[in-house]
Amino acid sequence: MNIGIDKISFHVPNYYLDMTDLANARETDPNKFHIGLGQDQMAIIPATQDIVTLGACAAAKILTTEDKQAIDMVIVGTESSTDFSKSAAVIIHRLLDIQPFARSFEVKQACYGGTAALQQAHDYVALHPERKVLVIAADIAKYGLNSGGEPTQGCGAVAMLVTKDPHILAFNNDSVFYSEDVYDFWRPAGHDYPLVDGHMSNQIYIDSFTRVWEQNKKVNQTDSTDYAALTFHLPYTKMGRKALRAIYPEMSEAEQQRLEARYDEAISYSRQVGNLYTGSLYLGLASLLDNSDLAAGEKIGLFSYGSGAVSEFFSMTLMEDYKKSLTVEANYALLADRQALSIAEYEKMFSEKLPTDGGTYSFSDSSDFAINKISEDIRYYNK
Ligand code: CAA
Repeated sequence: MNIGIDKISFHVPNYYLDMTDLANARETDPNKFHIGLGQDQMAIIPATQDIVTLGACAAAKILTTEDKQAIDMVIVGTESSTDFSKSAAVIIHRLLDIQPFARSFEVKQACYGGTAALQQAHDYVALHPERKVLVIAADIAKYGLNSGGEPTQGCGAVAMLVTKDPHILAFNNDSVFYSEDVYDFWRPAGHDYPLVDGHMSNQIYIDSFTRVWEQNKKVNQTDSTDYAALTFHLPYTKMGRKALRAIYPEMSEAEQQRLEARYDEAISYSRQVGNLYTGSLYLGLASLLDNSDLAAGEKIGLFSYGSGAVSEFFSMTLMEDYKKSLTVEANYALLADRQALSIAEYEKMFSEKLPTDGGTYSFSDSSDFAINKISEDIRYYNK
């Protein structure tokens, strides 16, 4: 039985910052951001939106009434939770009117959470083939104004419906995973922003990739020629390219060019959005599906990396007529119709926070699933 991604969609807020403007404001050569990091724009989120807003918006675009009756689990992978106890999944479950006899919970392991959720969804559907699982990978990457990580911020959510006989991609059950207790990026309780050793994190990312890649070759008896494309977690788009190039010595030049061309198709959306932590790999997957011309039956390799660190390499196979299940035009429009912010507007929006004094406050953000009120520390969302 094939199990996999039946539907996929993503959501980003309506605002972005141009990386040339950020570079100029920080007295940096814009080429460092555009070429050195591979980022052109960065998604910015107002205080009246959070991962619930992002996740609900992403999922609402793909779910039918029939899907909502068949979903048994809502799993949100995130490291941007607003609550140590209650999960975003429970709120999204209500906002989307999913049938009540469902499990709803969050999973966390930095940018790996979405992949853990996706694999769990696979296992559930394997045991309950008639049922469906909604997986949401949602995050808000914030390092602070004027910080080293500032040009690698971003936010957004990717929603995936996991079912049997999927219309887009099927799992090949070939995962290879790797854990290493390391402090490259972490956010202790009470910290608004992560603590990060940026250059060390780059190195651990590349080392993790080469380790799971070597293990994958051994365990699954494969090499690069078995994959139509390799996709990567994308904290910034140069990062995955560095990892991909780390395995170039084992390939012919033509093979390098083939994979680099697919890589460029997979980073188109992330160049315009920035990092959405656990959603980044899957935004890259959506970009690849929308922007390339891969054939049914071809295999895509996915490298998931979550600092701290857990990584996984696995593959999925494209289904017949998968293009018919994509929402390409809507995805292009979502990115094209956003509003550019000035530096002053960005810094103001970045610094605004919802009140935490337990009082009652109303807000006028009319966008889908935005927060319209906070009272006694409960967030109320537009429906
Ligand atoms: N023109 C073209 N390129 C330029 C340039 C210019 N004028 N100036 C610099 N560059 C290039 C540099 O050569 C460098 O390229 P390489 O990496 O290929 O050598 C690149 O731009 C970045 O330059 P620096 O290393 O000097 O940049 P930095 O010191 O400001 O740090 C960073 C970059 C470490 C990524 C920092 O932004 C950061 O800490 N980001 C957050 C951490 C992060 O994203 N880590 C990624 C791995 S961890 C992970 O994946 C999990 C996650 O999501 C966080």
